[in-house]
Amino acid sequence: MKVRLTSIHHFAAAHRLHNDARDAEWNRRVFDKCNNDHGHGHTYGLEVTVEGAIDPETGYLMDFKELKRVVEDRIVRHVERRHLNFDVDFLEGINPTAENIAVAFWRRLEGALPRAVLRRITLHETQKNSVVFEG
Ligand code: NI
Repeated sequence: MKVRLTSIHHFAAAHRLHNDARDAEWNRRVFDKCNNDHGHGHTYGLEVTVEGAIDPETGYLMDFKELKRVVEDRIVRHVERRHLNFDVDFLEGINPTAENIAVAFWRRLEGALPRAVLRRITLHETQKNSVVFEG
């Protein structure tokens, strides 16, 4: 019997979207506010969903505290109040769109959850815009 757990996190970070292969006009048109010269900030929401079997001894798939600890350790502490273009080694060389960040977060978490399989990452860039990656 499989169940899914979701752990919800928030972090504030800056980014600048830019494609070096294109000129300034193209970048302004495509990335708009997110192309601001020195970046700008978002309050991101992160939802991590894992799946696995219920342990009959505990009644847990995994302790929510443990899932939270892994997400904080692998992701949140590296991005909280950072500039995503410059300060985060696992985002180096990546144009930090919500799509690309979600994929990078997946790679950071995959295999780091002892009793569970990663099923979904939802990254909210704003309260109205979010991206889902399911591997
Ligand atoms: Ni932005």
